[in-house]
Amino acid sequence: MNSLSDILLNRRTIRKYSDRPVDDTLLNDLLLKGCRASTTGNMQVYSIIITRDSIRKKELAPFHFNQPMVTQAPVMLTFCADFNRFNRWCRLNKAEPGYDNFLSFLTAAIDAILVAQTVCIAAESQGLGICYLGTTTYMAHKIVEALKLPKGVVPVAAVTLGWPAENPDQPDRLPLKAVIHDEMYSDYTDSDIEEFYLQKEQREDMKQFTKDNNKETLAQVFTDIRYKKDDNIHFSKILLQVLQDQGFINH
Ligand SMILES: Cc1cc2nc3c(=O)[nH]c(=O)nc-3n(C[C@H](O)[C@H](O)[C@H](O)COP(=O)(O)O)c2cc1C
Repeated sequence: MNSLSDILLNRRTIRKYSDRPVDDTLLNDLLLKGCRASTTGNMQVYSIIITRDSIRKKELAPFHFNQPMVTQAPVMLTFCADFNRFNRWCRLNKAEPGYDNFLSFLTAAIDAILVAQTVCIAAESQGLGICYLGTTTYMAHKIVEALKLPKGVVPVAAVTLGWPAENPDQPDRLPLKAVIHDEMYSDYTDSDIEEFYLQKEQREDMKQFTKDNNKETLAQVFTDIRYKKDDNIHFSKILLQVLQDQGFINH
């Protein structure tokens, strides 16, 4: 068994899974560990929806832009910011909750993400592979419907989980000094930026990726193709509407 340190340093996202099932005892153990993550005021303002049923996975797939992991993985977990349960407890106990606002959404979203990442580390430490699905926040309105999420509940992250059937190369990271600031933020010079991104830009796979996308620079692949302004504005509007509908922007 590898040490936690090896696991953290060597991990990579896994997008192809074998047929080997993830049994309930193992999944339960991962979730138990995940729920030990820090949580605001120990309120645990999150919920986790487990999807194993292949019909349900097929229903969810279009809301994750038909990424193949959704139907291929034995397990999918949707982590939700959830003030519904806590609000109900308050009301049953003569306490009036004041959590119908954006700060409370962010609090619950942070709680949900911390659980998600802890479950992922627990899973990876057992040799399982995971992949986050960013489509969760793009298509939150559809996921709310499909998973029957009540008011006070918003999906913020989904993860596919299973035994790896691939061993991809480990992607690059920026050098540590690019993301660390000593005591105070020290803003970058242009040459810092050029230096920090050079390694990424010079990777053969990234050069090919730029070429395949008919772009002059790697940055253009991000701004013009992968994470476009128009899409960001479109999905932001949808997400803001979901926050409104789910009762997080009422005050
Ligand atoms: C919030 C979030 C959303 C992501 N969404 C997707 C996704 O929709 N599809 C996908 O294939 N990978 C997704 N990923 C995985 C990233 O692409 C991956 O973590 C990144 O490329 C670095 O690779 P690594 O995890 O192997 O180091 C997501 C990761 C995060 C943290």
